[in-house]
Amino acid sequence: MNAVLSLHSIWAYVVLIVLVFAVVNAFSGLFSKRVFGIRDLRLSLFGLIVSHIQLVIGLILYFISPKFQWWSEGMGAVMKNSTYRLYLVEHPVTNILAIVLITMGWSMHKRQVNNNKKFVRIALFYALGLLLLVSRIPWEAWP
Ligand code: HEM
Repeated sequence: MNAVLSLHSIWAYVVLIVLVFAVVNAFSGLFSKRVFGIRDLRLSLFGLIVSHIQLVIGLILYFISPKFQWWSEGMGAVMKNSTYRLYLVEHPVTNILAIVLITMGWSMHKRQVNNNKKFVRIALFYALGLLLLVSRIPWEAWP
């Protein structure tokens, strides 16, 4: 359990850093009107892969974490307590949604042939995903 938790907290840095780079790169490509090249493709794909890996680690962690036992107090108790709610509901649900958005951005950019449209899809969907992620990170617990 400790190993999975450590992996999840370390990998979170990788996810956030790669996504920030992917978003900044997509906006810069958009505004400079350049061609969507192999470097842009690799960076966006890297963002997709690292966030999917975090999703898998998070799903495993969810069920093995001692915090999962909080569910034994019942749905009402979990929803009333802001710490329980953050770890058991808000953090997982928001982050799954964020990764769905990132995946949508990736697959929508692939269907476009126009460079600008590719950059827009990545920029908007990845940025929205990133915002959702940072909105529900348990900051006070994160080393
Ligand atoms: C890209 C998405 C995600 C990021 C960036 C992220 C980040 C984090 C961070 C920084 C922590 C605090 C770690 C610590 O206390 O050192 C954490 C805890 C946790 N995360 Fe995630 N997470 C993500 C996705 C998920 C998902 C999808 C799930 C579950 C389905 C999940 C389940 C958990 C659980 C259960 C904890 C608390 C574990 C414990 O303290 O025992 N996470 N996450």
